[in-house]
Amino acid sequence: MTQDLTVIVLAAGGGTRMKSKTMKVLHPIAGRSMIGHVLHAAAALEPTRIVAVVGTQREQVGPHIEALVPGVVLAVQETQEGTGHAVRIAWAALPTEARTGTVIVAYGDTPLLEGESLRAFAEVHRASTDAMSILTGVVADPFGYGRIVRSTAGDVEAIIEEKDASAEQALIAEINSGILAFDAEFLDVALPLIGNANAKGEYYLTDTVHLARQAGHTVGAFAIDDVRQTEGANDRVQLAALAAEMNRRILERWMRAGVTITDPTTTWIDADVKLAADVTLLPGVQLLGTTVVAKDAVIGPDSTLKDVEVGVGAHVVRTHGELAVIGAGATVGPFSYLRPGTELGAGGKIGAFVETKNAQIGDGAKVPHLSYVGDATIGEGANIGAGTIFANYDGVSKHRTTIGAHAKTASNNTFVAPVTVGDGAATGAGSVIRRDVPPGSLAVTSGPQRHYDEWAQRKRAGTAQAKAAADAAKAEPAEDDA
Ligand code: UD1
Ligand code: CA
Repeated sequence: MTQDLTVIVLAAGGGTRMKSKTMKVLHPIAGRSMIGHVLHAAAALEPTRIVAVVGTQREQVGPHIEALVPGVVLAVQETQEGTGHAVRIAWAALPTEARTGTVIVAYGDTPLLEGESLRAFAEVHRASTDAMSILTGVVADPFGYGRIVRSTAGDVEAIIEEKDASAEQALIAEINSGILAFDAEFLDVALPLIGNANAKGEYYLTDTVHLARQAGHTVGAFAIDDVRQTEGANDRVQLAALAAEMNRRILERWMRAGVTITDPTTTWIDADVKLAADVTLLPGVQLLGTTVVAKDAVIGPDSTLKDVEVGVGAHVVRTHGELAVIGAGATVGPFSYLRPGTELGAGGKIGAFVETKNAQIGDGAKVPHLSYVGDATIGEGANIGAGTIFANYDGVSKHRTTIGAHAKTASNNTFVAPVTVGDGAATGAGSVIRRDVPPGSLAVTSGPQRHYDEWAQRKRAGTAQAKAAADAAKAEPAEDDA
């Protein structure tokens, strides 16, 4: 798009009904802040510039917006004197030569807003001769909204705010969504003319309708069918309702794209997650952040993956994972905890009650049971015995363990890092490996087994243990160990 387009996002209001130390527009839905969703929709328009009006807690909101939209113009509204006042401040933040083209005003708290809707609205406005356009909605309960007042011929004459509406006007079901489009030349003339002689004593941006009509312009109004896109969240009840609705929409989109979701009521998918066709999500799955799942993978039941990459055909059961990579055909779980830096190779396995962190586990390598694998490299085809601890921390710093390709380490081993087990090497059960094991060697560290005869009878005299031992000795006298 080469059109000159400015998007102004209003986000100066306090959002006190959230009762939160976190500013309203920063509350997350589907892995993005509310304003993040709006800025995402705005970006779809490829606007020439984006202006964000911040005020309350701007030290929180400003940097967040700047991180999401490099080059954004931040306009500071010190006191919230109304939407007209906010846009006036946004306008003043632009150099004169940038006050051109088409201007879209949106709010920072409408997370369901889609870029496509904004784009269609901007295009309709641009194609018209109207000085401004209103994105309207027809709602069952118009309470609280500005009502669209039309002439008998159907022309838009005014937007009347709730507190200023007559009983008759209050019945009007067509409302101002809050999203408006302006020709810059008109906005430039109208903004200084907005007054605050109304029930709230605020500068209403909606007064521009009246000003346009006075100046002999026409005002367009386009109803959006999907009104929820313009719904804002003022408290946490509305936040949860919008989050549920957004999740429903995201799931529906993925199901239509070929993903099987067996229980949509317990499945949550963030907006930036990517799924291939023929992925299956079982009940109780949360896919968060920038998680990517390749085709034929099966996730769940009951798994949470945040910023995890899952390969083709992998199976992930009852797992909590973050910043991890799971290779094609690999299996994970049940009850596995994949911490950041875990990379499981193709066909590999991380089994039950295994915690991994900063661990590269090669193709076909397996850590099947009850282990902690921290700061490790495990070669392809290696097998780690049940109950193995990679002791990576000496109390001061972390060290790495390297296990060679096709090494077979036995149950209940401890690898005291830094240490290396060579390719094709093996270890005995219960070994504590402190020195490097050469390739192909068997390392055994536990001492030879010794028997202290009749220990129970002597040291546990009078107990059931001693009696059982004595009874057994009577029945079958002990032979000397060879
Ligand atoms: C506004 C509209 C109303 C519309 C409704 C849709 C006006 C006068 N009224 O009413 O017609 O139906 O939205 O939701 O425009 N803000 C600022 N600075 C301010 C005031 C507001 O940045 O000084 C921001 C708020 O953070 C919020 C948005 O503008 O995101 C809307 O403000 P709000 O006070 O909620 O307007 P409404 O009374 O809901
Ligand atoms: Ca509002």
